[in-house]
Amino acid sequence: MLILSSPDIRIENGVIAEMGEGLAPLPGEEVIDARGLLALPGGIDVHTHMDLDVGFTRSSDSFFTGTRAAACGGTTTIVDHPAFGPAGCSLHHQIDAYHELAADAVIDYGFHGVVQRVDDGILAEIPALMEAGVTSFKFYMTYDRRLKAPQILQLLQAARALGALPMVHCEDHEMLTALREELVREGHTQPIYHAKSRPADCEARAVKEMLALAAQAENAPLYIVHVSTKGGIEAIADYRAAGGRIYAETCPQYLTLDESLYEREDGLNFILSPPLRRAEDREALLAAIEAGVVDVVGTDHCPFTTEQRKRGADNFTLCPNGLPGVELRFNLLYSELVASGRVKLERFTDLVSTNPAKLFGLYPQKGVLAVGSDADLVLFDPGETWTVTRDLLHENVDYTPYEGMRLQGRVRATIARGETVYKDGVFTGQPGRGRFIRRRKSHV
Ligand code: URP
Ligand code: ZN
Ligand code: ZN
Repeated sequence: MLILSSPDIRIENGVIAEMGEGLAPLPGEEVIDARGLLALPGGIDVHTHMDLDVGFTRSSDSFFTGTRAAACGGTTTIVDHPAFGPAGCSLHHQIDAYHELAADAVIDYGFHGVVQRVDDGILAEIPALMEAGVTSFKFYMTYDRRLKAPQILQLLQAARALGALPMVHCEDHEMLTALREELVREGHTQPIYHAKSRPADCEARAVKEMLALAAQAENAPLYIVHVSTKGGIEAIADYRAAGGRIYAETCPQYLTLDESLYEREDGLNFILSPPLRRAEDREALLAAIEAGVVDVVGTDHCPFTTEQRKRGADNFTLCPNGLPGVELRFNLLYSELVASGRVKLERFTDLVSTNPAKLFGLYPQKGVLAVGSDADLVLFDPGETWTVTRDLLHENVDYTPYEGMRLQGRVRATIARGETVYKDGVFTGQPGRGRFIRRRKSHV
């Protein structure tokens, strides 16, 4: 395949074989005329929850439907967060389970390990998992399977010694539990109280506690997922400025939506954790993106249909948590960040592809357009303006939080290892063509 762009890109056997100006087509070679479009590295979304088992239901996208949606939105690789496993299970347990679930993925994928307790057996499993291509490990400061400070310290030290990247969901569990119980006791069960039960300070406190633990673990590297607050991101910026090895992720929903949505009739559709925030948080996150403090924008894609969400109709605490977003990340961020003039195209590419590839051991196989790299790319029209509606999307969920949003720029085609999997509104991939990628250690 030869893509005419600037530079031209020749693809052979799923890999970029040649790049240069004025390449001539070979006999019989497929030629895609992408002049006038941007050819960009395929998106890498390192925060998805496909087929997430939350006990009473599962997120509504399977690996097939979720990666189909990802492909249609310009994402060519995901790294998924498996659900918690049964109490007492090994670290391998959920990776094995999710390998089976992901067999019909459309695009390449990897997994983060999920650490729900720390003991000698769990720590001893990490080297074998790293050998098998799982080099990052997520833990939570809230939910039933959260880790406490002594366990976190042990994990950070072990990860540091092995070159694994620990990842953490930061919310202060004691604070949010107390607030939630008080609100429910007082009869405050509408969706807006989800946000009030998990205020900004709840995240900022947890982030500060985590940073103190990382410092105590001799400056262990740490990746903080879905940072949503001014307090959280400012603490991260200060820690990094003082030499801390900290990496920060935020998500499109925290850059484009706010907590006023919980007051709408369909407020349940916006319940996720951490919750949507206020304008001052959104502005601080956007400023941190401009300043280079945010390294990655992942989606935390975790859809539940309006039917599934009705469980929380009389009490927000019963609503499954999480928003859809995997299909719109590339388009939303280009519009919000590049078309708006906030950041240059190179910074956008770093946030959606190159940095995640480097941090999660995929680079330079992925995350860059270079000879020898996988031919994962997006052909993007920066001139098109369009309006998001649910019926344009391929996610297996009956609404989008971004309904009616006017966007500048649009993915026209997605090429994954040299195969066109999306073109002009139509999915052209196949279930099962995605491969599990054995990731190496973090590049940082
Ligand atoms: O509400 C969310 N974000 N659900 C997915 C699990 C998590 O905490 O990331
Ligand atoms: Zn989380
Ligand atoms: Zn998540």
